[in-house]
Amino acid sequence: MTTKVAPSLLSADFGRLHEEVKRVEEHGADWIHLDVMDGHFVPAITVGPAVAGSLRPYTKLFMDAHLMVSEPEDHIEPFVEAGVDLITIQAEATAHLDRALRKIKDLGVKAGVALNPATPPGILEYIWPLLDLVLVMSVNPGAGGQKFIPEVLPKVSCIAEQVKTRQLKTEIQVDGGVNGETAKDIVRAGATVLVAGSAIFKAENGMSLIGELKKLCR
Ligand code: DX5
Ligand code: ZN
Repeated sequence: MTTKVAPSLLSADFGRLHEEVKRVEEHGADWIHLDVMDGHFVPAITVGPAVAGSLRPYTKLFMDAHLMVSEPEDHIEPFVEAGVDLITIQAEATAHLDRALRKIKDLGVKAGVALNPATPPGILEYIWPLLDLVLVMSVNPGAGGQKFIPEVLPKVSCIAEQVKTRQLKTEIQVDGGVNGETAKDIVRAGATVLVAGSAIFKAENGMSLIGELKKLCR
């Protein structure tokens, strides 16, 4: 099985986002990854549902919104209305993870949970049926361009094992510090979707990385 690539717009030129979307689409991107930060769960503030909705007419690609926001349950509807295909919430950001996931699913979009580097995978134990995606954060959320944390690799393997044993179709996404060097181990551990921001938008020849990452096989 080859790998899906989801460029993170966090490292794109915010002044011409729809052109950046077109550019990654032309280079074979599978998904568009939108990093939403609220200045509370993480110090930075990025974009909200208005930007997701503005981009929607420009691409047919699957759009996943990664909400790095406190109490994500209060922000689900506007992202659904904006037309995103999947909403991922941070496990650490709500006391009501099950309820928030059910809310996403009830509104007709796919649901994901993101785990910070120190968050153990056991938190998924009772919510597997609700999960279309598990996002393993391989940096601490808040900024692009950070160094990959290799200690999360056993967690990716553990989650991949669970998905296999339970015969689920849950995607395993890895986000943070993904580049041509780190991607091989990440895919070997079981990742099915790679998020990459700075390695695609800020590096020389970054666009060609999309094709290279897609070829990696589990
Ligand atoms: C981090 C974000 C990531 C980040 C990835 O908080 O969730 O999506 O932008 O950026 P790179 O690929 O530069 O680590
Ligand atoms: Zn992200």
